[in-house]
Amino acid sequence: MSSQTFFDAVKKRRSIYALSKDSVISDEKIQEIIGQAILHTPSSFNSQSARAVVLLGEQSDKFWNLTTETLRKIVPADSFEATEQRMNGFVAGYGTVLFFEDETVIKGLQEQFPSYADNFPIWGNQSNGMLQYVVWTAFAQEGIGATLQHYSPLIDDQVRQEWNVPQEWKLIAQMPFGKVAAEAGEKAFQPLDERLKVFK
Ligand SMILES: Cc1cc2nc3c(=O)[nH]c(=O)nc-3n(C[C@H](O)[C@H](O)[C@H](O)COP(=O)(O)O)c2cc1C
Repeated sequence: MSSQTFFDAVKKRRSIYALSKDSVISDEKIQEIIGQAILHTPSSFNSQSARAVVLLGEQSDKFWNLTTETLRKIVPADSFEATEQRMNGFVAGYGTVLFFEDETVIKGLQEQFPSYADNFPIWGNQSNGMLQYVVWTAFAQEGIGATLQHYSPLIDDQVRQEWNVPQEWKLIAQMPFGKVAAEAGEKAFQPLDERLKVFK
């Protein structure tokens, strides 16, 4: 594979908010993609602290309904309609990937390498972001649209309870996905010459 092929894949990944439940690939293929991403995404000291929970079909609906009800309690009533519309968009999708960091791993590293203690949570988050990106980009190759969402810590306790998630797993991000119902719009790019310096 040339770097051009890789960048074709990179460019294909966008934030897709309009999703449908229509099947694009099998549940097994979805699981395989996320599994491969977990195995092959790098982590500091090869610590592999990322965890994921995949919610499909009704389980994903349950997650977004639960998030909607949690937000209803804190978002002012007169601005809730926009929030609810956004949530309905996620319920319209087929599934959701929940990304976590296992804090047992992070604490273990901090004890083992005290001089890097402050860095491990940061590196864990960076590696987790890479994992999110690999899943997002691989999904796009299969015609699955997705976005990256952040409703933590509002929903953490309910997620732990509902899906029996270990106490030590810290929820980092949520990725609703499904068949692409509408493509992403134009994206603006800031000039590269302000963002990249080369010295030789
Ligand atoms: C670290 C990170 C956090 C993001 N958080 C959110 C979010 O909470 N909600 C959301 O709708 N999009 C979120 N996004 C998506 C960005 O808004 C989006 O990637 C950006 O506008 C570029 O658009 P594109 O994804 O279509 O290329 C996030 C993206 C990144 C990289």
